[in-house]
Amino acid sequence: MVIGATVPGAGEQQGSTVASAVRDQYESYPYPPREPLEEHARLLAPVADSLDFLNHFGFGGRRDFGEPFRVLVAGGGTGDSVVFLAEQLRNDPAEIHYLDISASSMAVAQSRAQERRLENICWQQASLLDLPQLGLGRFNYINCSGVLHHLQDPDAGLAVLTDVLADDGVMTLMVYGQHARTGVYQLQELLRLLESDADTPDARLSRARELLDQLPGSNWFQHGKALFGDYALGDAGLYDLLLHSQDRAYTVPELYEFTRRAGLSINQFVDAHEYEPAGRLDDKLWTPVLAQQSREQRYAIGELLAGTLKTHTVLVSRRPAPLPSIDDMDMVPSLAIASPVEAYAQFHALTRQTQQAGQAIFRHRGASLSFATSAPLAAALKYVDGDRSLDAIYRAAARAGKHRRQALQAALRTFYATLSRRGLMYLRHKGVPRCPTVAELHGRLSKD
Ligand SMILES: C[S@@+](CC[C@H](N)C(=O)[O-])C[C@H]1O[C@@H](n2cnc3c(N)ncnc32)[C@H](O)[C@@H]1O
Repeated sequence: MVIGATVPGAGEQQGSTVASAVRDQYESYPYPPREPLEEHARLLAPVADSLDFLNHFGFGGRRDFGEPFRVLVAGGGTGDSVVFLAEQLRNDPAEIHYLDISASSMAVAQSRAQERRLENICWQQASLLDLPQLGLGRFNYINCSGVLHHLQDPDAGLAVLTDVLADDGVMTLMVYGQHARTGVYQLQELLRLLESDADTPDARLSRARELLDQLPGSNWFQHGKALFGDYALGDAGLYDLLLHSQDRAYTVPELYEFTRRAGLSINQFVDAHEYEPAGRLDDKLWTPVLAQQSREQRYAIGELLAGTLKTHTVLVSRRPAPLPSIDDMDMVPSLAIASPVEAYAQFHALTRQTQQAGQAIFRHRGASLSFATSAPLAAALKYVDGDRSLDAIYRAAARAGKHRRQALQAALRTFYATLSRRGLMYLRHKGVPRCPTVAELHGRLSKD
């Protein structure tokens, strides 16, 4: 679709030196580095851009993506989000807009879309700060991941995005997490102290590599460096992490303040289970204390406890979106962690093995999740396939075995309470068509 190149406007005038340093960096080092031909091997699927996730946490499970849906990917970089969204919405009447200040980043994203033969994206090289002049209208979904923390005034950037968000629209924001990046900021400062104004980007990269080779074991970056993988793989990752001309990070309370100032509320954190302190503290001692805390307080505690949350990804909207209910029999449950088939196998096996013990531990992305197991839970989970409504699940499970509907319902409700709080289980209304899984979406490409 149409490609517009926009002349630098308001976005450039604001703090022009830094803005152009940021643009120059992403022109020379598009980030994250992506090889378009890899589209044939895998589909990258950022959780927050999954339509199931958006529907559950943003639209009460009732959004039919077969209806017109306007999407903006602001600072789309090398294309992870825009490609995933366009792939999911390939056969829908959605309008997807990509914006980025870097022509070379956009070229990588376009090549990826081309490899997938995606023709449903409008491309534009422009600053998100210029959105008021671009006249693109308002959007049902905005993704802005890893961008606002590189603006001189992130609040101004968020205000501009909020202005183009539809009244009932939702937005994904990813910003850096402060505590996990403590060592990063120390190393950035150290590198600045060692460089001179005349240094070329290549000289900066060499100096950073030399320094990394010589860091003493006591250095703060050394302690946490396992958290940061791609700086060791190439120039783009190294520059982005340690030589960026402009970045800032947020603690959980700062992130809440940031969104509140824009008149937004946080519906959900991606990887919410990593923020919950309960799994990391001795339950008996802390449960009464944590029970008194708001989500904001608990997550602030969780961030400090974990020490590993290097980014925060949140879904925000003007008003907190009502969550779908597990007691609404017309809802269709699905599991976020895997395809329904894989999830069924994993959870069902776990509950069967451990139903005597009554407790199962499921490990997911570094956090462990403990849930009560029982024969009724195993019986109900057998029918959670991403297609059946709750009513159909309970009817099928009751017919197949010895469990009463009430027992099945109670077991699944408790299971859902554990998983959904952590963003691992979704509900959508049965009138809304099922979204294909990532494997199914990718399979389409190989069949073409
Ligand atoms: C760290 S990358 C993230 C890319 C992508 N959002 C992702 O998550 O993979 C930051 C991107 O923001 C873009 N960017 C920075 N400032 C921008 C602005 N004012 N308007 C639009 N894009 C911007 C950069 O060119 C770069 O591609």
